[in-house]
Amino acid sequence: MNVTEAVAARRSTRAFLDKPVDLAVIRRILDKARFAPSGCNFQPWRGTVLSGAKLREVQDAMSASQPQDPAEYSWSDPEQSPEHLGRLKELGGLLYGSMGIERGDKDLREEFARQNIRSFGAPVVLMVHFERFMGPPQWSDVGMWLQTIMLLCQEEGFDTCPQEWMAMYARVIKEQIGVSDEEQILFCGIAIGYGDHSASVNHFERPRIALDDQVRFLS
Ligand SMILES: Cc1cc2nc3c(=O)[nH]c(=O)nc-3n(C[C@H](O)[C@H](O)[C@H](O)COP(=O)(O)O)c2cc1C
Repeated sequence: MNVTEAVAARRSTRAFLDKPVDLAVIRRILDKARFAPSGCNFQPWRGTVLSGAKLREVQDAMSASQPQDPAEYSWSDPEQSPEHLGRLKELGGLLYGSMGIERGDKDLREEFARQNIRSFGAPVVLMVHFERFMGPPQWSDVGMWLQTIMLLCQEEGFDTCPQEWMAMYARVIKEQIGVSDEEQILFCGIAIGYGDHSASVNHFERPRIALDDQVRFLS
């Protein structure tokens, strides 16, 4: 698989097969991902790989608790802009529509959203955390690491879903995985496993902004 194929094949996967993942392969992926770029070569990212009984323990602890208020950080501020709110609504329509869930069916939507707790059945979850004193440039560095990991996962035959939803359970997760809440922020999880390619939720169209509306060429 070349890079173009990996970029095209990656999509946020929200239904996984009950098929084990070899942790040695995850280790190999993370070892390669160390070479993601970062400003000043800070390499601010940190991660905790969860699987098996420990993953279930963390998921059970999330299930048994309420979402924290406020969440670890706010991911929805741009919703104040009609353009971005429109994009979120469009995503919701496509995502829930792919499963036949109507716009007005709040209960079913919430039930599906709660599947984030179980990472949609993925057997491995990478919890991504880093020091609280990191600023916007370092958050961007962490994003580079995430995409590097997700593309390497594609190369190894795995599917992924990044999950900022975990920010609503950050304190519970950190307590479970032995990460200091005072010192570290929990950014997201990445669900990793073999996607269920027969599930309609893994097939809906993903709209993108036209290139010329994103990028200008000046010469
Ligand atoms: C940092 C980050 C966090 C995300 N968090 C979630 C999440 O909590 N739950 C979810 O279902 N999707 C989540 N997504 C997936 C986005 O909705 C998805 O990337 C976007 O709709 C584009 O679709 P694609 O990834 O399939 O190309 C997240 C994506 C990113 C990059």
